[in-house]
Amino acid sequence: MSNSLKKEESNSKERAQSEDKILDQTLRPASFAEYVGQEGIKKNLSILISAAKGRNHAPEHILFYGPPGLGKTTLAHIIAKEAGAEIKITSGPAIEKVGDLASILTNLSPGDILFIDEIHRLNKTVEEILYPAMENGALDIIIGKGPSARTIQLELPPFTMIAATTRIAMVSSPLRSRFSGGTFRLDFYTDQEIEKIINRSANILGIKIDEESSKEIAKRSRKTPRTANYLLKRTRDFAQMENKGIDKELSHKALEMIGIDEAGLNDSDQKILGALIDKFNGGPVGLNTLAASLAEEEATIEEFNEPYLLQIGFIERTPRGRVATEKAYKHLKIDYPIDK
Ligand SMILES: Nc1ncnc2c1ncn2[C@@H]1O[C@H](COP(=O)(O)OP(=O)(O)O)[C@@H](O)[C@H]1O
Ligand SMILES: [Mg+2]
Repeated sequence: MSNSLKKEESNSKERAQSEDKILDQTLRPASFAEYVGQEGIKKNLSILISAAKGRNHAPEHILFYGPPGLGKTTLAHIIAKEAGAEIKITSGPAIEKVGDLASILTNLSPGDILFIDEIHRLNKTVEEILYPAMENGALDIIIGKGPSARTIQLELPPFTMIAATTRIAMVSSPLRSRFSGGTFRLDFYTDQEIEKIINRSANILGIKIDEESSKEIAKRSRKTPRTANYLLKRTRDFAQMENKGIDKELSHKALEMIGIDEAGLNDSDQKILGALIDKFNGGPVGLNTLAASLAEEEATIEEFNEPYLLQIGFIERTPRGRVATEKAYKHLKIDYPIDK
């Protein structure tokens, strides 16, 4: 591929990503009342926030984890709003050096919320500075080098740290233990909850959609709000192109065109399942071997594909590797081997 073509492709990818971001922001619920589902988490967070208000203190530090698009960033914003706090946003990979973190922390005002996305990508030396900051509101700074080096301690204003990760296993246990307000796992949504989200989004975007179509989109949204919003928008674009309204037939056609099947599988899910079944006889196979056979990153599969495939029972994790279930064979219309 020529360089200019490559550039064009990456430009369009960037454009698509920034469109997704705008969509995320436009459709982001601003309060617990608007935030659909995750009832247990909402209840816990409300208690945490009102208890903090009662003590006239910043809420304790909170960690969210779960697959992409389930509403972690949204919750951080809602907490800030409900607590009446400012939110400062950064991410693990953006904090490269200890100095970067020190400058973020010393620039906080009392009661601020510091949101660190992708906390699993924080480097070790930066992480160690976080421990005393989270625990005692203290920032240890080393001044000078060699034998004359000494540590001074700065007192930080009271703040709440909220962190999010898609890879909880990569967050060290010392760091995890410092989230005194709790660690919360976001679950996939039910189809009914997704339908609610689609109707809410359609309302905000001024899209007319009937019940059957929102059910159809919900079914294929991989139980994920971000996907639901994306598919709704793509279906609307499709309807505009065809000069039609969104009905069941149109949404069915649009979703087929976009490449999402009846079970919500996209192209890459299908490739992964296909490889697992064709090349490895349904498994068990290690994730690294499976990834290598597809020239795909292990982390991508683990983060984006596997959680959903596990959730709908198409694959299982065994000590010896990943296994395709009978349900997956059925879905792909492949005979399940009798010797299984
Ligand atoms: N519970 C929810 N109710 C309504 N919309 C939601 C909910 N959770 C997420 N969304 C929508 O999905 C989008 C992605 O959510 P986000 O918080 O960015 O996910 P994450 O940070 O977990 O990747 C949001 O912009 C919002 O529009
Ligand atoms: Mg996020």
